[in-house]
Amino acid sequence: MRAAVPDLRYAPAPESTAPVTIRDSYGLFIGGEWVASANAATFVTQNPATEEKLAEVAYAEAADVDRAVRSARRGYEKYWRKLRPSERAKYVYRIARALTERSREFAVLETMDGGKPIREARDFDVPQASAHFFYHAGWADKLAWAIPGTERARPLGVVGAIVPWNFPLLIATWKIAPALACGNTIVLKPAETTPLTALLLAQVCLEAELPPGVVNVITGDGRTGAALVEHPDVDKLSFTGSTEVGKAIRRATAGTSKRLSLELGGKSAFIVYDDAPLDQTIEGIVSGIYFNQGHVCCAGSRLLVQENVAADLIERLRARIATLRHGDPLDKNTDIGAINSKAQRDKIVELVQSGVEEGAVLVQADFMPPERGYWYPASFFTRVQPTYRIAREEIFGPVLSVMTFRTPDEAIERANNLPYGLSAGVWTSSGALGMYTAQRLQAGVVWCNTFNQFDPSSPFGGYKESGFGREGGLAGLRAYLET
Ligand code: NAI
Ligand code: MG
Repeated sequence: MRAAVPDLRYAPAPESTAPVTIRDSYGLFIGGEWVASANAATFVTQNPATEEKLAEVAYAEAADVDRAVRSARRGYEKYWRKLRPSERAKYVYRIARALTERSREFAVLETMDGGKPIREARDFDVPQASAHFFYHAGWADKLAWAIPGTERARPLGVVGAIVPWNFPLLIATWKIAPALACGNTIVLKPAETTPLTALLLAQVCLEAELPPGVVNVITGDGRTGAALVEHPDVDKLSFTGSTEVGKAIRRATAGTSKRLSLELGGKSAFIVYDDAPLDQTIEGIVSGIYFNQGHVCCAGSRLLVQENVAADLIERLRARIATLRHGDPLDKNTDIGAINSKAQRDKIVELVQSGVEEGAVLVQADFMPPERGYWYPASFFTRVQPTYRIAREEIFGPVLSVMTFRTPDEAIERANNLPYGLSAGVWTSSGALGMYTAQRLQAGVVWCNTFNQFDPSSPFGGYKESGFGREGGLAGLRAYLET
């Protein structure tokens, strides 16, 4: 008689929402106070896993943007630029500690507002965010030594920061922490689908007794962002988001004295040589494309695999995506959560459809989505030609395009053959081949035998249409200093 097969299904493991208090409505955070928008306009942010309304949020018009920039200017002139750097550092450390102490609250709120798995918000977004504040706090009183050849590095003044919805708290932190450490004040505009962690961070700044106007948070959409871009009293703009909007911002700031850094889209290559350890490589691919539902600017969304191991790798990948757990983002076992918005889900559906019509073969994880919410299963395409839209355009969802190559030079040429260049991955047992390849890839970051490694001390940014400027490390500080 055969022994009964044990039931190895996971029981539900939902994270508690108890640490989070979501208010019915939120104002704008300007001059150290919560204020209504000039004409009392609001919009709603929802939970994309349930479509449930989470809160009403003030909508900032041009008049509110003006108020926020004036407040940042006052905060700069009156307090922040006059403060001794070692005193500035204390405030930044205070924010870092508060983020650490309230990490569970931030993680749960990030998951509720944006749909990412709690495991990622808890283990990646929030720890990285507090690490950025700690790292930059350390630089505040050492700027004179940060960049060789500059005797006296000075702040720029008022920074306008516009951030997207894929890593709402973390990308805001990438901009706020260095801006403050370098002595600038800031106006932050979060994305319209994910404003809540930025508003909680504003509350943390208030409780840290940051002088009024040093950090301002204004909520709204693209029009609010455009008003911030056009405001004449902003000294520097830092934008992360789509290449299309990045280009518009570049046009809008041309001929002005505004400094600009852009971190835009990508279609990063993930190159697998035939001597790569395939099981580890599969885990790299999963992190590269399915992390955060593929809503990642540096996602390894083009898999280039050496032809003689392609069939083997594809079979392993097919088996692996069947084990990915889709569903409730608040469940601690979930690998793939909700798509951030209906618009983004529709965009993924449209691009996948184009891939099928152009002739690629679609493989998808078996997942029956709940009735409500926005979902998309882990997917990959084989038989992809480099001219297909799915091989060239950023899908920003859990969809991988698999292509093959025969020689290293072919892999490199194909990897570089797009207007993007944010990241790349190289998998091989040969150190020499890894170096040969990495040195020839036009990408801001190249990960060898790993993927998605981040640290505040390590600069991140792109080539070509993936943007310019670096965030993190010494290179990132330079963007917030007059040197
Ligand atoms: P988006 O670029 O429109 O939004 C990003 C931020 O810019 C948001 O805060 C938005 O309110 C603001 N914004 C929009 N229009 C603006 C304007 N004219 N001036 C100033 N600020 C403006 O991105 P969206 O529409 O949410 O996503 C579209 C596609 O962009 C995605 O499917 C994805 O391919 C790509 N994307 C890439 C990101 C990245 O990290 N590289 C992040 C978000 C989106
Ligand atoms: Mg939301």
